[in-house]
Amino acid sequence: MTRPAPQISIYPTADDLVQGAVAVVTELAQAAVAARGRFTVALAGGGTPRPVYEQLAAPECADRIAWDKVQVFFGDERCVPPTDEQSNYRMAREALLDQVPLPAENVHRIGGEDDPAKAAADYELEMRRVFAPALPPAFDLILLGLGGDGHTVSLFPGTPALREKDRWVVSQFVAVMGAWRVTFTPVLLEAARNLVFLVAGADKADVLTRVLHGPYQPEVLPAQLTRSGDGHTRWMVDAAAATKLETG
Ligand code: 6PG
Repeated sequence: MTRPAPQISIYPTADDLVQGAVAVVTELAQAAVAARGRFTVALAGGGTPRPVYEQLAAPECADRIAWDKVQVFFGDERCVPPTDEQSNYRMAREALLDQVPLPAENVHRIGGEDDPAKAAADYELEMRRVFAPALPPAFDLILLGLGGDGHTVSLFPGTPALREKDRWVVSQFVAVMGAWRVTFTPVLLEAARNLVFLVAGADKADVLTRVLHGPYQPEVLPAQLTRSGDGHTRWMVDAAAATKLETG
């Protein structure tokens, strides 16, 4: 099933992008809680989302979301301890999770400190526990970044996880990073109700236009895998990243 055409929103500055992203996350959270009594979200790692998480935790924003009804997962994790500065969990904990009234049992982190294959298997079991019987898990929102090489979560070009059709979470050694990662597979991206990409900075201009307007080549540009599924995809980008987009 090919997803409806993605909604592309271009923001004048990185801060405008942050404000826009906070508004979208808040809107999706409120709608999910109203419709299904909870909001299931998978957070993105890397640097772009951090100011969005910090703003979500700001007093003027935090009380717009019923945090006790939010279930937080992570789209991928570096295979490091949760205290490591590389940990996506640590970044989100510092920027958001420790700043809002989110019950500890609602935060589902990937065991970065564990054997990667075990961490992936355990994470799938945790998802099964939280989402059953509605499987595969249809996240209300998966937040995503875009790497300069076209990767998203830890679906890197030419890696085995790109071709995973059954498992929801896998581990893989990412040679270009020289490190193990645990990542959502395309199965979860396809099942999600909403995908939101956050892309900022001139260094993403080339890859963004290749992903959105170039030939479909997901082995080379894994972010293109999000074209399948029947949910809604938003690309929220700043003007610096959008300089090469065909906006006509
Ligand atoms: C990670 C992320 C990864 C990230 C992109 C973009 O673990 O690093 O999941 O997919 O979203 O690499 O990272 P930036 O936002 O830092 O450019």
